[in-house]
Amino acid sequence: MSIFEVIIYEKRNGIAYITLNRPGALNAYNIRMRDELYEVLGAIKDDAEVDVVILKAVGEKAFCAGADLTEFLTAPPPVFARQARFDRDVWGRFLSLEQPVIAALHGYVLGSGIEMSLCCDIRLASDDARFGLPEPGLGIIPAAGGSQTLPRTIGFAPALEILLSGRWIDAQEALKLKLVNRILPRPSLLPEAEKLAKQIQSYDRAAVRAVKQAVWRGLDFPLAEGLALEKRLGKVFD
Ligand code: COA
Repeated sequence: MSIFEVIIYEKRNGIAYITLNRPGALNAYNIRMRDELYEVLGAIKDDAEVDVVILKAVGEKAFCAGADLTEFLTAPPPVFARQARFDRDVWGRFLSLEQPVIAALHGYVLGSGIEMSLCCDIRLASDDARFGLPEPGLGIIPAAGGSQTLPRTIGFAPALEILLSGRWIDAQEALKLKLVNRILPRPSLLPEAEKLAKQIQSYDRAAVRAVKQAVWRGLDFPLAEGLALEKRLGKVFD
């Protein structure tokens, strides 16, 4: 029996599948989901059998409708909430994975849903995907890295406009803004994610992981330091 209630974890032929599984609440991100993702990402990180990870979600309507709004009222005082977040740093765990992570996004991709996907390496979206960060409208700010990862991904001006206005965007605009890498018809979303995963899997594991590390870490560096990092990582392959 699975220890997980709100995610499904499967591993097949070197590909790990994490599936958000709260269809009744449009896969809203609740405390239970945070804890289960934290556990599973920790296990994947140490699992030598996993080459690539696919993050997806059940249900027709949504990848994830953001933070669970019903928990807002029952949330602990901010100081405890903050401590809990540090204790269970899901976003840090996503970013610490050496394996590439592909997000397969459909339907509503809101709040934490976008933020989770921004911690992934490649985002594929179905043509029905709709994206939004409604936090300011709820009187809060993104708490899962969105204020940092969105501008790093799509650039300063469009990120600020989306974050401040709360405007939702469709899949076509998300592609234009480079928020997603590709748009696919819904039935092709998972097959294409798997095809991509298998392609990555066919390459040298160390090279794949070094490329991922060079790009992510290099983002925080001035060019000269980034080039030095690339050189250091490349030495292994000389
Ligand atoms: N937290 C908890 N439950 C949520 C949820 C959330 N973020 N988003 C949706 N749900 C629940 C609804 O309460 C509803 O439950 P019910 O069937 O028991 O009443 C179910 O999921 C279906 O949602 P519903 O609103 O009926 O679907 P819809 O197609 O009419 O609307 C949305 C979809 C996404 C537009 C709408 O659900 C919505 O605005 N959700 C909140 C988005 C949000 O602000 N997220 C927080 C980001 S920080």
